[in-house]
Amino acid sequence: MSSRRFEPSGPLRGTYEPPADKSISHRAALFGAMSDEPVTVTNYLDSADTRSTLEALLRLGAGVQEGGDGTVLIRGVGLHAPLETTGGRLDVGNSGTLLRLLPGWLAGQPGAEWVLDGDDSIRRRPVDRIVAPLKLMGADIDAREGRLAPLTLRGGALHGIEYELPIASAQVKSCVLIAGMLADGSTTIVENRQSRDHTERILAHSRVPFERDGLRVTVAQVDELELESIAVPGDPSSAAFIVAAACLVPDSRVVVQNVGLNWTRCGFFRIAERMGAVILGDLEAPGSFSDEEPVGELDAAHGPLIGTEIAPDEVPAAIDELTLIALMGAFAEGETVVHGAGELRHKESDRISAVVDGLRALGADIEATDDGFAVRGDGNPLRGGTIDARGDHRIAMLGAVAGLASREGVEVVGMDSAAISYPGFEADLGALLGSSQAPQ
Ligand code: S3P
Repeated sequence: MSSRRFEPSGPLRGTYEPPADKSISHRAALFGAMSDEPVTVTNYLDSADTRSTLEALLRLGAGVQEGGDGTVLIRGVGLHAPLETTGGRLDVGNSGTLLRLLPGWLAGQPGAEWVLDGDDSIRRRPVDRIVAPLKLMGADIDAREGRLAPLTLRGGALHGIEYELPIASAQVKSCVLIAGMLADGSTTIVENRQSRDHTERILAHSRVPFERDGLRVTVAQVDELELESIAVPGDPSSAAFIVAAACLVPDSRVVVQNVGLNWTRCGFFRIAERMGAVILGDLEAPGSFSDEEPVGELDAAHGPLIGTEIAPDEVPAAIDELTLIALMGAFAEGETVVHGAGELRHKESDRISAVVDGLRALGADIEATDDGFAVRGDGNPLRGGTIDARGDHRIAMLGAVAGLASREGVEVVGMDSAAISYPGFEADLGALLGSSQAPQ
């Protein structure tokens, strides 16, 4: 485990392109593997998580040819093709998205038994959320103690269902929609709150007939996908760390290029703007839908921040960035409260406790609530100290940003976990800090 120290820095300045979107990369590879014709994915994310997906698909018999420039050619086995392999163990590494999406496909593939397992963090993350709807569809699937990985499933015939999601989860929605393409009849998912819609967009892009009516999405059984290529935009969740640093470090100004602006992912930018952050750009309008992912530019600069209240409906579109809202709240004047974010307890770490303990150790006035946290700031920078990433990539990067904006610097224990989603994070920071100061 590597420790890294991030000293108070001069401004971040310049133009920057974030790494490719992790959520969309997973889906692009998976849909490529489900296609009959080869699919070219451009700007596929090179990270530990998305590598786990390529390795799992290779095990399932798909061809994966990497071009070295982010281009990956996937030679799929087809949606219904009996998988050539006889089953076995699939290692999802640290990836919750792979753990939750892949069973939607495997459950409808007769003939093989699969065991999905991963690292220690994966073994703590709930999978009953996908076991329940897949069982209703007729799947033969079991989890350890009914709710944890390893997950064992034997493929078989599925039938369509109508399922109301008890939690806002794009992973569960996606799993059921994928299974729905293999199931008899039609399958409807009803969300309680709108979560990221990348799977719906990729379904539309693959010419799979489906209907979307508010929070209801219906997909019918299909024979094959019509997919040739997928261009992956830059990841707004990764960009959010750099944007937060630009908002917190005086005199900073960063232009973010080729970043995904899908409104179901841009909640962080909207909330940060409400806190007074200067973030200009053409965010997609809420409620928009298309078979393409919107891509554009953001211009972020430092400015004074004020506290805000985040309502449960805003949570899904900012779910992976809420810890950054806590950090910004610690630098803002007044109180910042997040409601309806209990799901944070089930991420790569328990992110409510990781951020509350972590920021408190850096001098923040922050407390956990049942379903989120409350942080009070007086408009001054945090003191600094040591933060434990707890093996969570997003907590590691949060610690780095906190250090740059702090008065005394921050030591991040376990900085190496940033490579789960963003291997080039420190290099990108260093380039934007330029001569002002690279991380130590
Ligand atoms: C993801 C959905 C979210 C998010 C995760 C990626 C996805 O999880 O936190 O990082 O790719 O669908 P939930 O669906 O569990 O909210």
